[in-house]
Amino acid sequence: MKKYTVAVVGATGVVGTEMIKVLEEFKFPVSKLIPLASEKSAGKVIEYMNKNVYVEKLDKNSFKDVDIALFSAGAAISKQYAPIAVKAGAIVIDNTSFFRMDKDIPLVVPEVNAHVLKDHKGIIANPNCSTAQLVLALKPIHDAYKIKRVVVSTYQATSGAGKEAMDELAKQTIGILNGKGVIDPKKFTKQIAFNLIPHIDVFMENDYTKEEMKMTNETKKIMGDDSIELVATCVRVPVFIGHSEVVNIDVEKKFKIEDVKKILSEFPGLKIVDDPKKNEYPTPIDCVDTNDTLVGRIRRDISIENGITMFIVSNNLRKGAASNAVQIALELINQKLV
Ligand SMILES: NC(=O)c1ccc[n+]([C@@H]2O[C@H](COP(=O)([O-])OP(=O)(O)OC[C@H]3O[C@@H](n4cnc5c(N)ncnc54)[C@H](OP(=O)(O)O)[C@@H]3O)[C@@H](O)[C@H]2O)c1
Repeated sequence: MKKYTVAVVGATGVVGTEMIKVLEEFKFPVSKLIPLASEKSAGKVIEYMNKNVYVEKLDKNSFKDVDIALFSAGAAISKQYAPIAVKAGAIVIDNTSFFRMDKDIPLVVPEVNAHVLKDHKGIIANPNCSTAQLVLALKPIHDAYKIKRVVVSTYQATSGAGKEAMDELAKQTIGILNGKGVIDPKKFTKQIAFNLIPHIDVFMENDYTKEEMKMTNETKKIMGDDSIELVATCVRVPVFIGHSEVVNIDVEKKFKIEDVKKILSEFPGLKIVDDPKKNEYPTPIDCVDTNDTLVGRIRRDISIENGITMFIVSNNLRKGAASNAVQIALELINQKLV
């Protein structure tokens, strides 16, 4: 089997660290791993396949002989370096928001729209973490009953905002429990420990946050259907890993709720955890060690004619970022596109 030189840009971040773990877990055919980060991390040691690999400083010569470059070092780095990587001959899979809504760049969740990969011109975008888990559950429902409208409220973990954000939650929690008061919020606008914040990413002209508009726009693009209406409210909660979503789906066709559960259970990447009599439903802790997106509390929405309500939980660092990116890379190999 052919092996590939893989660069991970942002290798020391929470997503980059998970990417390296997932490459190993998925037995991705890597001939050489090149972890890249800022000057601050150059020389740091990363363990990969029981070997020490040294982090290199990202620069314009980093992509020589690289086949696949997985980017997760922020939008500004992707904007500057993704075109350089493509020019050097690499295929870029980008985790940042920078290229996602570019009409020439495929935005991919492999279980939903792997067919668009063939149109790539060197860069493929990975969706926002809260969108990736959502579209997995929407796709089989849309195929069966045609979705008209989705109302989603998210409960997003601090790791969605990177390593420093996780540290802020830990430090504030320890500080408060030790009676030392609240440490000044830096990554968040308000105290996150023992609190929650209905504000993720920046506010837009229409008073929605950018995170909320990403969910609306990216869902339409990945599902390949602009007629799906979606309104989101995104909330940061004091959880380290795992985004949760309450989703109300208004569909065109009549359905039986048992059939909805069945089609969800048969869709790849989804796992149903739903037995109210046994108190079985997914919680963020349940998704930490899995690439599956967990779905529970599946029931008829009693407020409209053809409505479905559910609770979706997924590891934002995995399906929301690293495992989706590595799945895209595997799909490129599968489709002989790399
Ligand atoms: N966290 C999530 O759930 C999630 C999900 C989907 C997408 N994303 C996206 O992925 C990206 C990274 O997120 P993260 O959560 O992993 O953040 P993070 O923990 O803060 O990590 C950032 C990474 O970027 C590197 N970096 C920063 N400045 C750099 C520079 N000038 N040159 C080279 N490398 C540089 C950092 O290296 P140093 O250690 O050297 O500073 C670190 O490896 C963001 O664009 C984010 O929106 C995140």
